[in-house]
Amino acid sequence: MSVSPKTMKFFLVVGASRGIGASVTQHLIEQGHSVVGVSRTKPPFGEWIQADVSTHDGISMVCEAIGDRPLDGFLYLGGVWEEGAFTDAFSFENSSDAETRLVLSVNLIAPIELSRGIAKNLALTESPRAIFIGALSGLDHSATPEVANTASKFGLRGAVQALRLVYRRKKIGFTVINPGNVATLEVQKDIEEGRFPEQAPIPLDDLCKTIDWILSLSALTEVGDVNLIQNEG
Ligand SMILES: NC(=O)c1ccc[n+]([C@@H]2O[C@H](COP(=O)([O-])OP(=O)(O)OC[C@H]3O[C@@H](n4cnc5c(N)ncnc54)[C@H](OP(=O)(O)O)[C@@H]3O)[C@@H](O)[C@H]2O)c1
Repeated sequence: MSVSPKTMKFFLVVGASRGIGASVTQHLIEQGHSVVGVSRTKPPFGEWIQADVSTHDGISMVCEAIGDRPLDGFLYLGGVWEEGAFTDAFSFENSSDAETRLVLSVNLIAPIELSRGIAKNLALTESPRAIFIGALSGLDHSATPEVANTASKFGLRGAVQALRLVYRRKKIGFTVINPGNVATLEVQKDIEEGRFPEQAPIPLDDLCKTIDWILSLSALTEVGDVNLIQNEG
């Protein structure tokens, strides 16, 4: 279904090259919206800003590329985790300090710095939304042994609660979506090849519908955390 030029919106999607970000980008483009994606490798859909958001230069490049274009949505859907994470191969003690810093840079610092950099673009539209992908491990008493990933997702929720206060007057909505395992190709492969236990992951379509719903609301309604929990298949 495509939208009329009047309702066509412009979105910035970080992590557009694969996984959740690529699926959501495709979904938004199929609806007739315009999307610019951020990643190090080329996304299959939409315009592309090639940037490494783990670095200060990468974040500056994204803000410069957006310039003064009005933005309807900032969707931070990318992320990284530790080598071997969520499998028996993971060991915190074998994870390096560099890995900890990378995970925190991409999953926590980049969302904060990019929010500050592009809030002015979001403030130019009628009901702007910033939506971030967290994880169930970022909720209280739900940690996994992946210390950096858990800390980044837990911290992201705190940062978003604070950003909501900072940008309340500009009427920018701030939401974290915390899903269980999502049916990306990588997760499906992990289940098929036995690295993850047998399970029914959250369909990508359900994640797209959640994002559609948040984006459809007026600026009068804030959406706090949205937790998407796997049911038995
Ligand atoms: N999949 C799940 O089941 C699941 C469940 C809960 C939460 N999440 C969260 O959702 C997010 C995405 O997961 P996914 O499964 O879609 O991962 P994915 O398939 O590995 O995709 C990650 C995306 O992030 C981008 N990215 C990573 N490092 C980057 C960097 N330094 N600079 C710019 N872009 C970078 C990647 O692009 P390039 O490599 O091309 O740069 C890619 O587009 C993560 O934060 C994850 O914790 C996923």
